[in-house]
Amino acid sequence: MEWCVLLCSFLLLGFVPIQADVDQSTLAALQIHKNLNRSQEACTNFWNYACGNYSAADGAKYVDNFELVEDLYAQAMVEFMEGDLELVDSDVQLNEGPALRLLAQMRAYYNACTNDSQTDWPEEDFRLLESNDWALETAKFRRHGLNAVFFDERVDVAYNDSLRSVVQLKMPDPSSSYSERCALQLLKLNHSGSEAEVSRLVDQLRQLEAKHRQEEPLVQSWTLADLEQKIPQINWQAYFHELLSGHLNGVLFEVSDVDYLRELGQQLGNTNRSTINLYLRLRLTVLLKQTGPARRSPNTCIHHMRALLPLGMNYLYNRYVYKNRNLVDNIQLLEIFESLKGMFGKYLEANRLQLSPAQLSYVREKLSTMKLKVGNLPEETSPAFYDSHYESANFSDSHHLSNVLEALSLRTRLQHDVLRLPHSRLDLRRYYVNDDVVKARTSPFYENERNTITVPLIFLHFPLFDHRQHSIFQYSLMGGVLAHELSHAFEHEGILFDADGNESPVGLQIRDTKAFQNAIKCAAQTPAVSLKERLADLNGLQLAYDTFFGLDHNSQLYTYRPYAFESEFQAPQLFHLSYAQFFCGILPPVLGHDRDDVRVNVNVANLRQFSLDFKCPPPAVQSPPVCELWRPTASSILVSA
Ligand SMILES: *[C@@H]1O[C@H](CO)[C@@H](O)[C@H](O)[C@H]1NC(C)=O
Ligand SMILES: *[C@@H]1O[C@H](CO)[C@@H](O)[C@H](O)[C@H]1NC(C)=O
Ligand SMILES: *[C@@H]1O[C@H](CO)[C@@H](O)[C@H](O)[C@H]1NC(C)=O
Ligand SMILES: *[C@@H]1O[C@H](CO)[C@@H](O)[C@H](O)[C@H]1NC(C)=O
Ligand SMILES: *[C@@H]1O[C@H](CO)[C@@H](O)[C@H](O)[C@H]1NC(C)=O
Ligand SMILES: *[C@@H]1O[C@H](CO)[C@@H](O)[C@H](O)[C@H]1NC(C)=O
Ligand SMILES: *[C@@H]1O[C@H](CO)[C@@H](O)[C@H](O)[C@H]1NC(C)=O
Ligand SMILES: [Zn+2]
Repeated sequence: MEWCVLLCSFLLLGFVPIQADVDQSTLAALQIHKNLNRSQEACTNFWNYACGNYSAADGAKYVDNFELVEDLYAQAMVEFMEGDLELVDSDVQLNEGPALRLLAQMRAYYNACTNDSQTDWPEEDFRLLESNDWALETAKFRRHGLNAVFFDERVDVAYNDSLRSVVQLKMPDPSSSYSERCALQLLKLNHSGSEAEVSRLVDQLRQLEAKHRQEEPLVQSWTLADLEQKIPQINWQAYFHELLSGHLNGVLFEVSDVDYLRELGQQLGNTNRSTINLYLRLRLTVLLKQTGPARRSPNTCIHHMRALLPLGMNYLYNRYVYKNRNLVDNIQLLEIFESLKGMFGKYLEANRLQLSPAQLSYVREKLSTMKLKVGNLPEETSPAFYDSHYESANFSDSHHLSNVLEALSLRTRLQHDVLRLPHSRLDLRRYYVNDDVVKARTSPFYENERNTITVPLIFLHFPLFDHRQHSIFQYSLMGGVLAHELSHAFEHEGILFDADGNESPVGLQIRDTKAFQNAIKCAAQTPAVSLKERLADLNGLQLAYDTFFGLDHNSQLYTYRPYAFESEFQAPQLFHLSYAQFFCGILPPVLGHDRDDVRVNVNVANLRQFSLDFKCPPPAVQSPPVCELWRPTASSILVSA
């Protein structure tokens, strides 16, 4: 049966690369050539050179390569969800039975999502959540996933103990003002009578936030008793009783913005109950709309489920769709990861930042214990765990809107359930990322607290990665991405966390060194949307390049034999072009990062070998010095070149 599933999905994908006579390296090279904009000099705008013709190439159908792999994933999962094919494990090494209940739940959810035509949210129904205490009422809405209306309450781990779950309390993040605006718009549409009161409430909240917002607020570690004593204006007992169903013993709270919370409690205590209820209802409606999907189709339902029900989707994809896990992808990814770590180890030997022995061993420890996870799945494999994990969610196979509410409640419940474990300690065997995303991650990510890089399974698709490709493609693109993520552990925010994911004064010392500060200043000379992304970008490319070519590589000293699959570009040039493929696309505004063209151009400008590799003429005006943080300074060979 396995070949049949394979065959069907490839037929459906309508995507050409699977042809026995064309190898994956040739395809990768072909793709790179198609994206080239030959009216552009590589030396002046490398992104435009490498990606400028993306829209004219096959990619025209997609905004970028992410959209392409997301589509491939969705098509394969739709096939799986709708197929009545006999279930065939894609992993021959598995000896556990399937989690059939989970499978049935996921199929029910998918069915309702694609079949149910109802689109209006039953906002009126949430009147049922009304209560005569605003904190209790807020908790009732919180149980349905609504957060950060009056304050932000979430489960995280303690700053000094990354295995201890705590509740964090603070004022809402500025980003929640978008949901505020949506709620007010909704209000204008339908509740004209109460518009003025709700607007006034929102204004008051904004003013309160503005008054108390601080750059780096003090964080207090408190018990519930402390919390009740220090902020008596809010009925915490009622709130947490409702949310944790009484499991309050020993829960630890990390509280910021104490003055804000006090004043908030006072103000809401004097606010009309029905105004508060109406505002909460509007915000929940907005949350449900944002959770989407905006337009329902088989593909959008798959991505919606990927964000909201990550464990279920990853389990099914990993078990029934993904083919190469234990055979090759895991091994190759680990090989790349270990090589990157090895090269970063050499960086540390050179000790550019002149760290003390204690500081060096802090960084080395962090490097050597860093983990790579392929797929956001727990270690635990027993079907009983997977079947019971979503057990409390009652998904219908016909009512999509109630399923979304059910899924949001499930997510919130699972996040808070950790607090019930003995001493609120995380069970790492069952840990996976289950946070409040609306759109699921496609790109790899690094978690400070876990000192772990996770590569989502969806990312492991051509053209981003293919186990059959020549290593130059793998080390430049996947290697570049993993190197970026690895570098997050050592930028100005990541460095504060030690090997175990606890905030450490040693990290702070390192960050405060003059050499580190100078490197940050250098990187910030070209304005960046996010400094940590800039630092990870620069060190990431440098690290990936050094890992593939070796330290102090100088392409002027070599004559390169052409690859069988690529006759025009020499190895170092091909490396840069392949690296850039990650960033190819029709330029959209990007949130949180610089725009892709800026990223590529700034990154290559800070790789001292780049201009040699492309034999760039000396610039007319003296270009600024390259910025390096951890990379050893150039040896005399390169300086004289
Ligand atoms: C872009 O691609 C098209 C089709 O592949 C090709 O004909 C054209 O010359 C390319 N344009 C540039 C500027 O390289
Ligand atoms: C290619 O680069 C040229 C020169 O910068 C630019 O005018 C053009 O818009 C780019 N794109 C394509 C598809 O030619
Ligand atoms: C719902 O979708 C399934 C396929 O997933 C289909 O067989 C069924 O007929 C649909 N039901 C309705 C009521 O549209
Ligand atoms: C973490 O900090 C809190 C308060 O600052 C303290 O009570 C607790 O003992 C610390 N835990 C560890 C593991 O150091
Ligand atoms: C507004 O109210 C009308 C009737 O009261 C209802 O049909 C409509 O669905 C509501 N719209 C929204 C966005 O809640
Ligand atoms: C609260 O608001 C509702 C509706 O806006 C109004 O009917 C009620 O009288 C108000 N209650 C008080 C105590 O002001
Ligand atoms: C599940 O939901 C259905 C309606 O959607 C309801 O009839 C049923 O009682 C619910 N079951 C549980 C266990 O809550
Ligand atoms: Zn990043």
